[in-house]
Amino acid sequence: MIVFDQKSATFTLTGKGVTYAMGVTDGVLEHRYFGASVVDGDLSLYRTEAATSFEARVPGKKSQNQIAVEAPAYGRGDYREPMLVLRGENGETALDLTYTGYRIEKNHALKGLPTCRGGETLVVTLSDAVRGVSVDLFYTVFDDTPAVARAARITNTGKSDLKIQRAYSDALDLPGNGYDLITLYGAWARERTPERIPIRHGVASVDSKRVSSSAPLNPFAALVEHTATENAGRAYGIALLYSSSWKIACEGAQNGSTRLIGGINDFAFSKTLAPGESFDTPEAVFVYSSEGIGGLSRAFHDLARAHIVNPAFADKPRPIVVNNWEATYFDFDYERLFAIIDAAEGTGIDTFVLDDGWFGARVNDSAGLGDWTVNRNKLPEGLTPIIDRCHERGLKFGLWFEPEMVNPDSDLYRAHPDWAIGCPGYEPLLSRRQLVLDVTRKEVRDYLVESVNRVLKENAIDYVKWDSNRNVSDLWSPAADPRDRECFAHAYALGLYDLFDRIVLANPRVFFEGCSGGGSRYDFGMLRYFPQIWTSDDTDAGMRCMIQYGTSYCYPLSAMSCHVSVCPNHQNGRTTPFATRCAVAHLGPTGYELDLSKLPPEEKAQIAEQNALYRRDEDLVLSGDLYRIADPFDVRAFGFLLVAKDKSKAALTLVKLLTLTNAERPLFRLPGLDLSAAYLVEETGATFRGGTLAELGLPLEWRDLHDFDAAVFHFKRV
Ligand code: GLA
Repeated sequence: MIVFDQKSATFTLTGKGVTYAMGVTDGVLEHRYFGASVVDGDLSLYRTEAATSFEARVPGKKSQNQIAVEAPAYGRGDYREPMLVLRGENGETALDLTYTGYRIEKNHALKGLPTCRGGETLVVTLSDAVRGVSVDLFYTVFDDTPAVARAARITNTGKSDLKIQRAYSDALDLPGNGYDLITLYGAWARERTPERIPIRHGVASVDSKRVSSSAPLNPFAALVEHTATENAGRAYGIALLYSSSWKIACEGAQNGSTRLIGGINDFAFSKTLAPGESFDTPEAVFVYSSEGIGGLSRAFHDLARAHIVNPAFADKPRPIVVNNWEATYFDFDYERLFAIIDAAEGTGIDTFVLDDGWFGARVNDSAGLGDWTVNRNKLPEGLTPIIDRCHERGLKFGLWFEPEMVNPDSDLYRAHPDWAIGCPGYEPLLSRRQLVLDVTRKEVRDYLVESVNRVLKENAIDYVKWDSNRNVSDLWSPAADPRDRECFAHAYALGLYDLFDRIVLANPRVFFEGCSGGGSRYDFGMLRYFPQIWTSDDTDAGMRCMIQYGTSYCYPLSAMSCHVSVCPNHQNGRTTPFATRCAVAHLGPTGYELDLSKLPPEEKAQIAEQNALYRRDEDLVLSGDLYRIADPFDVRAFGFLLVAKDKSKAALTLVKLLTLTNAERPLFRLPGLDLSAAYLVEETGATFRGGTLAELGLPLEWRDLHDFDAAVFHFKRV
């Protein structure tokens, strides 16, 4: 709900359990509050008390350096990190944005960029008549989620060019300097590890310069009170609906506040607006929780499931796939694939996904990318025999693509060498022996749309895995307006979203899974198109406990593709029990990444049962509330509790990681259940009150479990 109080010039936005308030004073749009719902009181009284000495200000007005500003710009006295840096024709950067009006919109959209669905959007317009600049600030609130989505549109209303040097999506000035910053760092096969550092004064930031949201850092950050824990304390989160180079920063300022900003990375970035032109920033989402880091995650999960993921798939049962990548890599023919497909019959697996290697001259990773026609040497009769075989065995068929890439050894590259991204004069850098196609160019996108859609049209394909196995280097495009050479990373994002519109959205019957060398492009922009993303190439259950734990800080379990693979694990050589691999892979849309025909009979025999169990409780994965029970980064144990929204049932998955000899027994408290209700533990037949489980945890013989053993318990309200 959005309310404007004319008398106090205060905007109050109400989401589920949260209030976001701002007001106009002396023409400046000031931030008043973001946090737990407040329903009464005059929020216009909550202005920052401002010291004035040695501050630059308009006489009689407060200095912008001392107040909480909704759209801080550089050059008029606010010395903190600004949201906007706009340079005029003569080099001027001073910008003084004053309030000019507001409107309320439904179905708000940004040009060429994904946004959250639904909600109600407040558009506040600010302008600077001296500079000839108008800025629309967008605030979307949702009555079912404690979140606010923000973005901005910058318009050049002047008579000369305007150069955008920085255009973040937002600025949020929080009271106090007492926060910890939580971010997610990682690498290939080790994505999204939580890291927590105290913020005092000065700037701390995370970013990507990779033209991808990236594995080393994820476009998410949280500011939490120093005392905040998994289950208690104030926590503010930001995440971006953006899949190219980004930055999130926070600054502890001298006036005792902390600013949180984020959006397009302004490193080596600029965009020129001719008179009359405008520019949209990507959307940033803020969530708030008083229930600590766990509450923050649940808020992000609710937002993603209700307002980001395509509603046609969001809470629908997901395909249970068997993928041939770790089973065969590039080395397959009809016989090897048929053996896997045949072995899937009757196991509950419902989709066979043919991974890399089916197209062009692809026999290893050195050739073929870009040529989206069947490799007739390997598959002389095309895909049809495989698809027919799937259908005969009651399976659907899925196919792997990597549309953004090209191998120098490909027909596409031989025909259009200039379509690969490269900087004139330099030998282009290879990564995994491939180059990136310049999807900022329309003719390149048209080729990809035509060639991928043709394969989808000519074959009965139900599922697509869209991969992207390298980051961009040598940023440059001959197609760019010479004034916009520094806007390449953003132009790539716009090209990518155009491809998604024309391939993903144009094939609504097909289920698209995102992927990027494992989980290297894992962000809310991608989730807008791909209901689930391959979480990591690391399929070891031990590492997956860590990766899925960290990923859950921002992203719901329903978005994390999780597969069972063989042991010793192909990525790190570890051996874990089959039951543990299944238990961990059931904490997301599940599947198998192995040769079913070669599985030992005792493991094969478990698959049908495991899948039936997964299906029975899939609703917990798709729409339950996640409580993180044990943190795998303290090496002893991993634990997730999934609780149904109506608290009628729950499932607890514990994995013992490293046994500590003669150690204290860990206490796994189980919050989130109905405290006064009784729950039957299906596996043991015992009954406990929710309140007992919340305080004393579940009694269990932890000593009986060995390293990497899992224990799964189902709770039913009785
Ligand atoms: C990436 C993906 C894998 C697989 C390979 C194929 O690494 O993450 O799952 O599809 O590419 O080349």
